[in-house]
Amino acid sequence: MLHRHTLGRIPPKPHTAFYDDNGNLLMEQCVTTEGFNGPFSILYFQTPPTDEFEAVEYEVPGFAPFELATSTALCRRHIRSQKQTPQGDFLTGRRTQFVNVDVQIGIIKPTESAQRFFSNGDGDELYFVTSGSGYVECVYGILQFKKHDYILIPKSSPYRIHLDEPECTLLVFEGRQHLGIPGQYRNKFGQLTDYAPYSHRDFHLPQELMSFDREKHGNPPYELVVKMSDRLSIHRYQHFPLDVVGWDGCVYPFVFNIHDFQPIVGRVHQPPTIHTTFAGNGFVVCSFVPRMTDFHEKAIPCPYGHASVDMDEIMYYVEGNFTSRKGIEPESFSLHPQGVPHGPHPGTYKKSIGTTRTEELAVMCDTYKPLQLTTSADALEVEGYNETWVNQEGESVFERDE
Ligand SMILES: [Fe+2]
Repeated sequence: MLHRHTLGRIPPKPHTAFYDDNGNLLMEQCVTTEGFNGPFSILYFQTPPTDEFEAVEYEVPGFAPFELATSTALCRRHIRSQKQTPQGDFLTGRRTQFVNVDVQIGIIKPTESAQRFFSNGDGDELYFVTSGSGYVECVYGILQFKKHDYILIPKSSPYRIHLDEPECTLLVFEGRQHLGIPGQYRNKFGQLTDYAPYSHRDFHLPQELMSFDREKHGNPPYELVVKMSDRLSIHRYQHFPLDVVGWDGCVYPFVFNIHDFQPIVGRVHQPPTIHTTFAGNGFVVCSFVPRMTDFHEKAIPCPYGHASVDMDEIMYYVEGNFTSRKGIEPESFSLHPQGVPHGPHPGTYKKSIGTTRTEELAVMCDTYKPLQLTTSADALEVEGYNETWVNQEGESVFERDE
């Protein structure tokens, strides 16, 4: 939630009679969160979104349901998500890679636009567009997206994704309940502070409603896939269920481009906390963007060795050079679990001294609860990553010249 937004036509007062141009009474729907205590929006529908005539079970194996990997050794892991097979649309091509009770992290390499709409009742979704472009058709309106955009879709919001080209890669975080702008970036009135790493102007909201179009939306039945408790069901409607004439409120999707994140730089190395971009229950999502590095005359810009005793750290590498890592490529995930220390790869620590810039672009997710790999991630894992901090004899090569 950022601020109240209005799109289309709404009546002067909530909960009063409101008609379309043909004199038909419109159906008001209040989308409320935390009971009636959290942010809410009020939408006005041509057809009540409740007239489904059928609900049937549905599955997308690898997403809902997913399977957990049986490998449980506690170690650093490298998952080559760039090897995931491109297929399907934003829903059928989705494969969950990491899970805990607070967040699920998946990769989608869709090759086609979606016909069905999808609504995730398990929580808010945050996409990161690694490559590709297109638009989101949502009950709250239409959102254009491009490479390196984040897209936030609120929990239980019907939407589907259209691609401009059949090549696209999407990283997606599925929070439990809600995720959004961290509280530390707001003043007590909810406005983003002037020292936050972004401003209200950086968030792009729907400016155009989605109205029913026979050519785009086809003939009945209209299908909506709903996810709840990690199970999917298809809901079928005789009338197009997403024809909204207007809405207002504080629940809606938005787009934010990672290059609009303003990095904070210190005299010496700053903790990853300064990269925090979004926060959910039990996890944060951070943006590492090209920036000046630390400017103390003896600064070591490369991250220090780190025992993150309370958090698992997932890094998703997007492009540029990765100061502390070797053998990692764009679309690689590294998972460094709590319980064991981690640190920069041999040679990178010393090599960083005296550098003035980093061109890395990466998305990090830190979670309080340990993450588990799914079988999808297990199949893409690079064997031996955990041992890449030692030489072939098994000795640490830290601080030695290469
Ligand atoms: Fe760390």
